[in-house]
Amino acid sequence: MSQTVNGDAFENLLREERKFPPTPEFAAAANVRGDIYAKAAEDRVGFWAEQARSILTWSKDFDEALDWSDAPFAKWFVGGEVNAAYNALDRHVEAGHGNRVAIYFEGEPGDTETITYADLTERVKRAANAFESLGIRKGDRVAVYLPMIPEAVVTMLACARIGAVHSVVFGGFSADALRSRIDDAEAKLVVTADGTYRRGKPSSLKPAVDDALAAPGHTVEHVVVVKRNGQDVAWTEGRDVHWADLMEASSPEHTAVGHDSEHPLFILYTSGTTGKPKGILHTTAGYLTQTAFTHSAVFDLKPETDVYWCTADIGWVTGHSYVTYGPLVNGATQVMYEGTPDTPHQGRWWELVQKYKVSILYTAPTAIRTMMKWGREIPDKYDLSSLRVLGSVGEPINPEAWMWYREVIGHGKAPIVDTWWQTETGAIMIAPLPGVTATKPGSAQVPLPGIAVDVVDENGAPVPNGHGGFLVVREPWPSMLRTIWGDPERYRDTYWSRFEGMYFAGDGAKKDDDGDIWLLGRVDDVMNVSGHRLSTTEIESALVSHEWVAEAAVVGAVDETTGQAVVAFVILRGEVEIAEGEDPSAVLRAHVGKEIGPIAKPKHVLVVPELPKTRSGKIMRRLLKDVAEGRDPGDATTLADPGVMQQIAQDLRK
Ligand code: WTA
Repeated sequence: MSQTVNGDAFENLLREERKFPPTPEFAAAANVRGDIYAKAAEDRVGFWAEQARSILTWSKDFDEALDWSDAPFAKWFVGGEVNAAYNALDRHVEAGHGNRVAIYFEGEPGDTETITYADLTERVKRAANAFESLGIRKGDRVAVYLPMIPEAVVTMLACARIGAVHSVVFGGFSADALRSRIDDAEAKLVVTADGTYRRGKPSSLKPAVDDALAAPGHTVEHVVVVKRNGQDVAWTEGRDVHWADLMEASSPEHTAVGHDSEHPLFILYTSGTTGKPKGILHTTAGYLTQTAFTHSAVFDLKPETDVYWCTADIGWVTGHSYVTYGPLVNGATQVMYEGTPDTPHQGRWWELVQKYKVSILYTAPTAIRTMMKWGREIPDKYDLSSLRVLGSVGEPINPEAWMWYREVIGHGKAPIVDTWWQTETGAIMIAPLPGVTATKPGSAQVPLPGIAVDVVDENGAPVPNGHGGFLVVREPWPSMLRTIWGDPERYRDTYWSRFEGMYFAGDGAKKDDDGDIWLLGRVDDVMNVSGHRLSTTEIESALVSHEWVAEAAVVGAVDETTGQAVVAFVILRGEVEIAEGEDPSAVLRAHVGKEIGPIAKPKHVLVVPELPKTRSGKIMRRLLKDVAEGRDPGDATTLADPGVMQQIAQDLRK
């Protein structure tokens, strides 16, 4: 069994003594050197101001690097003006790099497209004109419900260019989830596709948009539809527009103007501890500065020679920061892949690495563990010698997976950078620097230069080395979220009220004897399944919305491949009549899929007669987690009815 970052296994982690320093050749050629830490520590805000000025091309320089007078509401690079799309596109063309490849697109069925910076710039200019022709103005919100195709990047950058605020909704979310996000953001436009390909079969997207918009009361005026798999789709005249027609009718000339540093760039919804997803708001200049800085420093990107590939979908923050913004602002060449890793065969990723000579790969531990399960014979069939930096993100990476990644994929020479960050942080916060840090299997190790991360106890006091506690950020950082869309109070409460003057990340962490940081997973009701954040409350709400269910409790149980798996315990209503042959578990799993999306479907739904509750009526999820993970639930004396756990454990064994 693979080791997990929980309980006893953690003690083994802390005894991890293997260290892998960079080779002298790597260190000598690295983008950043070790002295950067001291330099940033000397004048943190000045360090970021210097990064902002050297990384971005400003339409108007800023007057003040940071205004924190209205904390926790931050303003970075005050008074400056910058255009994100100009920085990601036009300026590279103007500098003579128009022929450099921006995107090697590989569709799941094997269709390909090579898009240069000049091509991408032209497409974004057309899309900017096209959206303006549909009445989209600066500040308007645009919902994006697209697969991993170049049009996703084009749409995001076209919005940024005209100052419209994109809100990408992952294509795996249901119509209901899409509607609630459209409503919360009050989107005027939806950009979608007829569908995409999943595991060799066409799958659809447009029908979910039609469902989402079926009930009146929304703010959407137009739906732009990319033709991707050619399936028949319903059409609403006057509302729906074909992407291709619209682009053809639009001029390829468009002049980018600077937007205020704090102009909203995007809203991205993420699960919190309550049922309602939070619209995380990011603004322009600080976000661009930190995504581009980290993309260069942590991956050691050399834009002229590297081929970079981040496997994340555009629907998650990793796709925003490390597919769209960071790499393009840095002028990188990247691979974009539409499909799944096992279609048409389990070597697909490695075939792509070989084909495009990928030199930097950024992926998630769940994928690495899946590949481990498939066996090393598969990657061993391909030439992976181009790989020189390997990244990991989304959840703790267990040392076995880390070592496998290093040996089998990196052939023992490519440094591994385990990067900790969140939708809220916008960009990487904790990671080794590949030319500086001696890496340790399983630890993200050190806060980046200019980032003030700490581990504190219950009272907010820093823990000494060798101890655990809560991960916090002590000082504002450029790519921090600015608020929760439409709910500044929730922003303050969620992140800035647990510890006075500090940002509370919601993660547990430990410092080892060297002071290196080890991430231990969420300490709140957020689960992490295959690197995707899911809220227990949100899934519980979906379950009780089914007419059969009286009560539901959801926990994240340790899972070898996906990190955590969703396990639901439900009490059925006394009066329900379930027909012969109907399986309540299967019905309820499908129901959650419909309400939230396939990613949220519980692995197990267990029908139980009672749930363990305290005398004050609070469900003891800790006990349910114990049984779901096959442990003896231990002390149940605080329960109103201590017999409940025995009953559940007994039922489970059956
Ligand atoms: C977890 C993804 C351990 C963590 C970029 C965090 C990690 C949540 C790591 C954010 C890592 C992310 N090691 N845990 N390297 N990276 N996490 O918002 O629990 O989808 O709070 O952002 O993922 O997930 P989100």
